[in-house]
Amino acid sequence: MPSLNFKGKALVQNYHLLVPYHELKPVKAKSLTDKASLHDNLVVHGDNLKALKALLPYYHGGVKCIYIDPPYNTGNEGWVYNDNVSSPMMQEWLGKVVDREDLTRHDKWLCMMLPRLKLLRELLSDEGAIFVSIDDIEIHRMRSLLDEVFGEENFVANVVWEKGRKGDAKLFASVHEYVLVYARNKELILSRGIRWKRTKPGVDRVLAKYDGLRAKLKHNHARIREEMMAWYRELSAADAAKAHKHYNWSDERGLYFPADFAGPDDGRESRPRYDIIHPVTKKSCAKPSTGWRWDEERTQEALAEEPPRIHFGPDESTIPNRKTYLKEVTEEAALTVFYKDGRAATLLVEQILGKDAAEVPFPKDVESLADLLGLVADKDSIVLDAFAGSGTTAHAVMNLNQEDNGGRRFVLIEEKEYADHITAERIRRVIKGVPKAKDEALQKGLGGSFSFIEVGNAMQLESLLKATRCRLTRFWPVTFSTPRQARSSTRARSIARPASSARAPSMTCICFTRPTWSI
Ligand SMILES: C[S@@+](CC[C@H](N)C(=O)[O-])C[C@H]1O[C@@H](n2cnc3c(N)ncnc32)[C@H](O)[C@@H]1O
Repeated sequence: MPSLNFKGKALVQNYHLLVPYHELKPVKAKSLTDKASLHDNLVVHGDNLKALKALLPYYHGGVKCIYIDPPYNTGNEGWVYNDNVSSPMMQEWLGKVVDREDLTRHDKWLCMMLPRLKLLRELLSDEGAIFVSIDDIEIHRMRSLLDEVFGEENFVANVVWEKGRKGDAKLFASVHEYVLVYARNKELILSRGIRWKRTKPGVDRVLAKYDGLRAKLKHNHARIREEMMAWYRELSAADAAKAHKHYNWSDERGLYFPADFAGPDDGRESRPRYDIIHPVTKKSCAKPSTGWRWDEERTQEALAEEPPRIHFGPDESTIPNRKTYLKEVTEEAALTVFYKDGRAATLLVEQILGKDAAEVPFPKDVESLADLLGLVADKDSIVLDAFAGSGTTAHAVMNLNQEDNGGRRFVLIEEKEYADHITAERIRRVIKGVPKAKDEALQKGLGGSFSFIEVGNAMQLESLLKATRCRLTRFWPVTFSTPRQARSSTRARSIARPASSARAPSMTCICFTRPTWSI
């Protein structure tokens, strides 16, 4: 398989193994809980390479969904290569801002990303997935890197996020960026029958409107239809609910759309062409030239239901249709292209944080993130963001929990000093309420708690190995002298594959586990 080469690759290929474990120190004063702990929602302040390594003993294989929005390497983000790799070339890189003039800027960026992606993969559960925001500058290199780290067989989608118009483009106006999606193990996810579905946008409002009309107009389905159509007409073209305007017929079962009943035009002469009798005229209805979609038995069953699942015209001259009820088809797979203007996200963070919001330019849109993460994160999942910025991921997780009464947890990592007054502060305000917010739920506050964690000093390996035993027996300080020994150890396997809901141990331990060797 062709692979990506860059300066320093050989030096960072296994660097994540050399990164020392660091202390994780809960800071009560910056937390929003009575008892700051590593089992809470977390905002971790520190470099994400150290933080991810430090979180590994607690969250290995336990994170269902990862979202990252790393520097796009535009040349003006002011990011600095800071990993202390023991090589003269890379020591030279330390502390220098990576700008547009830097001829090794792509190498440095790849050297920064590779060890972090390897640790992120270790944190993902078997059914987990990672979402990576990126734009045209590094998309092709990021995709090759993700192919290497996650395996190209685990590629799921390259989602195009259209963000809004730009006025002054000279050749092309670039109005989109990307979200790359990789599964930890796509084959396993599919073999377990897991499907990523979301509620179709706008459906909830259509069904709420319909329920209101049913309560008011009872069994007068003709009037309900008129009012539904009038309501759809009033909606703006951009309103997601308008996309369902063909759902305007009603019967005792609910709101439906008369779907095509014709068999596909595949040239099959054997398509069924039986008679369907019109319920009023008692004559055989007109037939589609390609025959019926269903065999006769299935159609008879649909006709026998109360109300029948076949829709008839006023007389036999109209070809009948199948009734598709909106409440039975509320979910769909997400699309690989979507539109969400970026400016709304900036305005929302300004509403929450005031002028401090400017410290994190271009925050991501909370609704779009909730839509993406909600595909994978179940009600009890852990969601991690290692490039947290203004904390949009935590906000999205809290919104998802509010919608479905879920108990998802978030783990955010941010290295800048604003981890407290931006990242954590947004979460504090979302929890407690934002009086100026337009959204009613945000005004009241979504409730909850989180612990603020500082990444502390590096830990000495010897002191870790002397640790008597971890409180959780699955996590045990074990050493193996060879990879083969580690691979065949049942103890290593139980560490390597904790149950997805495994509680993390309550003291730090170090595990020389199967995945450590196999990376
Ligand atoms: C593009 S911003 C993320 C914006 C975020 N998605 C939002 O909606 O606000 C990238 C963030 O990653 C942080 N970051 C960059 N390198 C990091 C590192 N090595 N460790 C931790 N955070 C880092 C930056 O400080 C910045 O806040």
